[in-house]
Amino acid sequence: MAIRYKLLEFDSRRKVVIAAAIISVSVIILIITCVLVFGEKKVTDSSSSNGGRGSDTNNTGSCEILSSTPNSPLLIYSGTTTLIYPVPASNTTTIPHNQTIDLSCPGNQVRIGQNQFGPLVTVTCKKGDLFIVGGTEVRFTNASCSRRVNPTVKQLFIQDIPENDTISDCYKIKDINVTIGSIGFTIDQNRSLSFIKICFNTDSRIALYSYYELTAAINYRAKNVSTASFRQDDIFYRMAVSNAQLYNNNQITTLNRILGLDATSDKYINNKTFISRGHLAAKSDFYYAMLQTASYRYINVAPQWSTLNGGNWNQIEIDVRNYASNNKTNLQTWTGTYGIASLPNVDNITENLYLYVVETDRRNSPCFPIPAIFWKLVYDPLSQKGIVLIGHNNPHVNVTEDSQKVCDIDVSGRVTWLNWDKNNIIKGYSYACSYNDNRFQTTVSYVPKIVVKGLLV
Ligand SMILES: *[C@@H]1O[C@H](CO)[C@@H](O)[C@H](O)[C@H]1NC(C)=O
Ligand SMILES: *[C@@H]1O[C@H](CO)[C@@H](O)[C@H](O)[C@H]1NC(C)=O
Ligand SMILES: *[C@@H]1O[C@H](CO)[C@@H](O)[C@H](O)[C@H]1NC(C)=O
Ligand SMILES: *[C@@H]1O[C@H](CO)[C@@H](O)[C@H](O)[C@H]1NC(C)=O
Ligand SMILES: *[C@@H]1O[C@H](CO)[C@@H](O)[C@H](O)[C@H]1NC(C)=O
Ligand SMILES: *[C@@H]1O[C@H](CO)[C@@H](O)[C@H](O)[C@H]1NC(C)=O
Ligand SMILES: *[C@@H]1O[C@H](CO)[C@@H](O)[C@H](O)[C@H]1NC(C)=O
Ligand SMILES: *[C@@H]1O[C@H](CO)[C@@H](O)[C@H](O)[C@H]1NC(C)=O
Ligand SMILES: *[C@@H]1O[C@H](CO)[C@@H](O)[C@H](O)[C@H]1NC(C)=O
Ligand SMILES: *[C@@H]1O[C@H](CO)[C@@H](O)[C@H](O)[C@H]1NC(C)=O
Ligand SMILES: *[C@@H]1O[C@H](CO)[C@@H](O)[C@H](O)[C@H]1NC(C)=O
Ligand SMILES: *[C@@H]1O[C@H](CO)[C@@H](O)[C@H](O)[C@H]1NC(C)=O
Repeated sequence: MAIRYKLLEFDSRRKVVIAAAIISVSVIILIITCVLVFGEKKVTDSSSSNGGRGSDTNNTGSCEILSSTPNSPLLIYSGTTTLIYPVPASNTTTIPHNQTIDLSCPGNQVRIGQNQFGPLVTVTCKKGDLFIVGGTEVRFTNASCSRRVNPTVKQLFIQDIPENDTISDCYKIKDINVTIGSIGFTIDQNRSLSFIKICFNTDSRIALYSYYELTAAINYRAKNVSTASFRQDDIFYRMAVSNAQLYNNNQITTLNRILGLDATSDKYINNKTFISRGHLAAKSDFYYAMLQTASYRYINVAPQWSTLNGGNWNQIEIDVRNYASNNKTNLQTWTGTYGIASLPNVDNITENLYLYVVETDRRNSPCFPIPAIFWKLVYDPLSQKGIVLIGHNNPHVNVTEDSQKVCDIDVSGRVTWLNWDKNNIIKGYSYACSYNDNRFQTTVSYVPKIVVKGLLV
């Protein structure tokens, strides 16, 4: 959670200090009038996109860093694993004068101007965008990570997890074989930070949910971060076919075979409706470019129809970010999957849809189900209010019966901040549930246990 620093106010007026000293030696009276004018000096090119701004009128000013860029190092409170974010609803990260912070480029080098510092460097704020490192003044504007940084993806075991961490609920799930995956960064030999935690179904090979925190500063995130290619972490898979193949080449033939259609039939899978890699923790839900890029891991995606991905699910993500930003609230979010999508086969018999169907691999097949729904639990831990947003993951099947829903009551009429097209089947039929809804709790029984005292509306 971001610590909020009060923005220090800078006095832009020129300061005029008039000091008069009257010294008397015997009969000589000397009057010295001294006028000191501290002029303003521009410390940074204001056209630069990630620079600081500052003022030389005051030598004890705070440091101000403007927005994050695709190459910015991580800013971390010194000695901790807590990332520093801008003051909510502002593009400015303020560091008090004299405070030390860590700049981190995990697995790579922090570069400041001509100097390379290794993966971690501790700097002390002087003022504006000036910091001190090893007695030398450096400008934050010039700090960047020299090359692509390496995230750390690992399994978290029960002994690795504090009991008050809600991800520990994952290991309490009955009847499903699970493990917990973590996407994070190794800061130094004693410090690692984990920013996406995934409760992973080891039999079906897809996430039950991804947990992460959405900062109130999210709408000031690093922009223009290029998309990455998805990375497979083999400890979670162990199948003959790579994840990339399941999504790319195989999906048409696999799904058409399940449905008894010609291998090349475009009835369900075509250029408009196909199975995409649906991020659970979205790229744009992270402030730092490095975290955005690190979200491109297969453990953080699930098979999602392209039309939902670019339709209502995208709108839900935008609206949740706007909620956090407009309300200056850090939110906790769990984004998950449930059930298996189905379609009628050529004989009008309903078939469940999977991306991995290999008859000769009886141990693993079938797996990689296409989820029936995607759900997102959004929670404000301060007010203890929450809401569950549901996206139906099948553009070819209408939701016409109440029994197709995962909660008793659709509360979306009470939510004012959603701009979705909720009844649009192609964009993904969508609705909202109270976290405490009975049917929701018994259906998506593995949703983490939290205290929710009202609707986040
Ligand atoms: C400099 O700024 C700080 C914080 O705004 C303030 O406390 C201090 O009095 C100022 N010092 C001078 C010499 O103006
Ligand atoms: C930062 O915010 C200020 C005030 O809201 C605005 O004037 C400025 O253009 C913004 N700068 C950037 C780089 O977004
Ligand atoms: C900054 O830190 C130095 C050394 O720790 C100390 O001497 C100085 O008084 C501090 N200045 C302020 C304004 O806190
Ligand atoms: C550092 O950044 C400033 C602009 O803030 C620029 O004028 C200067 O050339 C940069 N120095 C180096 C060594 O890149
Ligand atoms: C869990 O407990 C530890 C120590 O008991 C505390 O420092 C930490 O903030 C707690 N974490 C959460 C998420 O409540
Ligand atoms: C969990 O794993 C065990 C051992 O691999 C297996 O026998 C069992 O069927 C699995 N349970 C489920 C629900 O798939
Ligand atoms: C890590 O912790 C050990 C033991 O406390 C300490 O000796 C070492 O200096 C620490 N390393 C770093 C990089 O902080
Ligand atoms: C984004 O990147 C492109 C090319 O890489 C560049 O032309 C454009 O100015 C950038 N936009 C911003 C807002 O930085
Ligand atoms: C669909 O995509 C395939 C391969 O990418 C292409 O050959 C085909 O022309 C496309 N069809 C349409 C209707 O755009
Ligand atoms: C929270 O944000 C939403 C828009 O995203 C807005 O409609 C609502 O009024 C905000 N609530 C408060 C209390 O600011
Ligand atoms: C297919 O089965 C459904 C019931 O599962 C039925 O409503 C529908 O009419 C059937 N369609 C055809 C073409 O037989
Ligand atoms: C869904 O139902 C509506 C109204 O009942 C109908 O107009 C539409 O064609 C249906 N869509 C699909 C994909 O079955």
